[in-house]
Amino acid sequence: MESRPCIAMIGSNMMDLVTYYDERFPRLGETIVGKDFEIGFGGKGANQAVAVARLGGEVILLTAVGDDLFGPLVQENFARQGIDTRYVKVIPGKTSGVAPIFVNPRGENSIFIIPGANLFLEPEDVERAKEDLARASFFLLQLEIKLSTVYHAVALARELNRRVILNPAPAQKLDFKLLEGVFLFVPNETELQNLLDLPSTGNDEVKEGIEILLQKGIENVLVTLGERGSVLGNRHGFSWFPPYEVTPVDTTGAGDAFLGSLAFFLAREYPLEEAIDRASAYAALSTTRRGTQKSFPSREEFTEWLKIARKKGG
Ligand code: RIB
Repeated sequence: MESRPCIAMIGSNMMDLVTYYDERFPRLGETIVGKDFEIGFGGKGANQAVAVARLGGEVILLTAVGDDLFGPLVQENFARQGIDTRYVKVIPGKTSGVAPIFVNPRGENSIFIIPGANLFLEPEDVERAKEDLARASFFLLQLEIKLSTVYHAVALARELNRRVILNPAPAQKLDFKLLEGVFLFVPNETELQNLLDLPSTGNDEVKEGIEILLQKGIENVLVTLGERGSVLGNRHGFSWFPPYEVTPVDTTGAGDAFLGSLAFFLAREYPLEEAIDRASAYAALSTTRRGTQKSFPSREEFTEWLKIARKKGG
């Protein structure tokens, strides 16, 4: 029997409060009628964990919720997805993370996050889970929790000889000395631009940004470029990956679908290039449906769709 890939996810969860609007966003002081509203489970960490679980992987999840209305719902959702909630920390007196999201008629989104309890996941929580975390082949991290906790997780992964996939979202100034040896660093183009103060994100600037990050001790840098696909840089040079063409209705969480599935495919020991191609397909399929986690395909749905998409692509 095929063994179940295991990923450690130390990161955030949020309740997504999603407004879909027609035509345009209201101006300052203006009220206009929106098109639709949905509440869903989100947060970059939780989304990436759910993508792993939907594909059949095991997740060792470390996250934090508040002792409010949303906390138990978030925990129930993880349990429904088959994710162990043993390390979901409840923070007394704090609210759970929330994310007001605005989706335009082209399916593109703008997001605020209010991390709440997420900022109380501590380095000691990572240390306490060490024995279980050691079962994972990859550590999957983002930046919606305290940076000290992220750095501690990277250090622990190094100590345990596990590979780290770091999604630097939302972008913020990082101490790259503490990130040395990270296996895969995956910003989108806006994050790359903000991280390195790049003037723009044309292909030349993206390559320049990747080179800067490689010099800082990152092993592989993969920049996701939306409709332009993605580009991987490492000591062998650059490789470009075309996107899978779909008509998106909601791109919210597509980056997380990409990251979670990428971690899963790498843990299944696909070569990096093949894992990236599969993750691009998984993310593309997720954009054809509304919502964040609920748009993530199951393993069966994905396998069927990929066969057809690859045939079409020749
Ligand atoms: O990447 C999408 C996610 O970003 C949303 O689910 C939202 O919660 C924010 O964390």
